[in-house]
Amino acid sequence: MLPETLWSSLPVPAFLVDGSDCIAQANPAAEGFVNLSQRALAGSPVFDRLAVDAPLDSAFARVRSDQSVLFINNVDVSGGDRAPQQCNMQIAPVAGVPGHVLVLLEPREIADRLGRVSSVKSSARSAIGMAEMLAHEIKNPLAGITGAAQLLSMNLSSGDLELTDLIVAESRRIVALLEQVEQFGNLAPPNRRAVNVHDLLDRARKSAVVGVAAHMTFAEDFDPSLPQTYVDADQLLQVFLNLITNAVNAAGPQGGTIRLRTFYDLSLRLRRRDGSGAALPLQIEIIDDGPGIAPDIAADIFEPFVSGRDNGTGLGLALVSKIISDHEGWISVDSTPGNTVFRISLPVAPRAPANQESP
Ligand SMILES: Nc1ncnc2c1ncn2[C@@H]1O[C@H](COP(=O)(O)OP(=O)(O)OP(=O)(O)O)[C@@H](O)[C@H]1O
Ligand SMILES: [Mg+2]
Repeated sequence: MLPETLWSSLPVPAFLVDGSDCIAQANPAAEGFVNLSQRALAGSPVFDRLAVDAPLDSAFARVRSDQSVLFINNVDVSGGDRAPQQCNMQIAPVAGVPGHVLVLLEPREIADRLGRVSSVKSSARSAIGMAEMLAHEIKNPLAGITGAAQLLSMNLSSGDLELTDLIVAESRRIVALLEQVEQFGNLAPPNRRAVNVHDLLDRARKSAVVGVAAHMTFAEDFDPSLPQTYVDADQLLQVFLNLITNAVNAAGPQGGTIRLRTFYDLSLRLRRRDGSGAALPLQIEIIDDGPGIAPDIAADIFEPFVSGRDNGTGLGLALVSKIISDHEGWISVDSTPGNTVFRISLPVAPRAPANQESP
């Protein structure tokens, strides 16, 4: 295979840096990362193009003198006018070209996606298992309390009625929460079929518009050529609704715009535990222009019971994450004030329908 083909197929940003720390070559992923073309990059000092939160010059010097690879993990790297992104960085000497070094960047977003989804799955399991048991136990006495309050209210003056109404209303809220917890345990394995993802997004939008999202503006940016995906339609609908509801909550009473976007990207692959790979080319993004995810909870939003809202239970995204990982898909999030993007990556439906597989 031609070296040029390999270079341009590298799925992570790669820069070839010459002996005077100028960029000799940048692959297409690197062009995307700094948002400049190879022509504009070639010959310019690498420190002008990449702002790295680590002593890069001494790192280069070590690689050049030791002729060995250096790994720097979790550094903030920004290119062009973009916000810094956490990356793992690899700096390698180039065989046969003294002074040259190869810089590979692996944005943590990609590195973390897989790990995050599967770890959520297990921690969600244990926390939810416990909560589920409690939920079951609490629902009965709660029904008793509600009933007693309603009986009491029959002989009360209007001032005291407010109090029994409060008991009933708050008990209902607890029951709703408990039911949400129980939903986790009841979640059956996905019943997967070939599904047009745009139909599901339409259904989610329609039901949101008549409910929580009445004051929101929706925009659709669909790739009409997108092939069908292979999912449990009801479960995926729940995922879309939870993400839309979160966007609505983030926007607050003044509303905002929710963009539903789909596109095809063949470069994403899921590496399964057994080492086999599966392509996840269908990309679905739910994008809002709200204030963004609060930085103090951003790393944990997929964990159960993590919420940034007064009345939030913190189960919405934990459920989303569980459903997506049951489907062997990916979910990732990228949030800045004014632009929060939840991206779901899913497989394509198998060509032959299941009932034609056996002869
Ligand atoms: N689009 C978004 N914009 C800003 N913050 C968000 C967004 N989506 C989620 N969050 C943050 O992540 C938190 C967790 O979301 P999650 O859906 O898991 O729980 P919740 O919305 O608080 O409660 P619920 O169980 O009712 O969904 C939210 O409370 C919010 O702080
Ligand atoms: Mg939510």
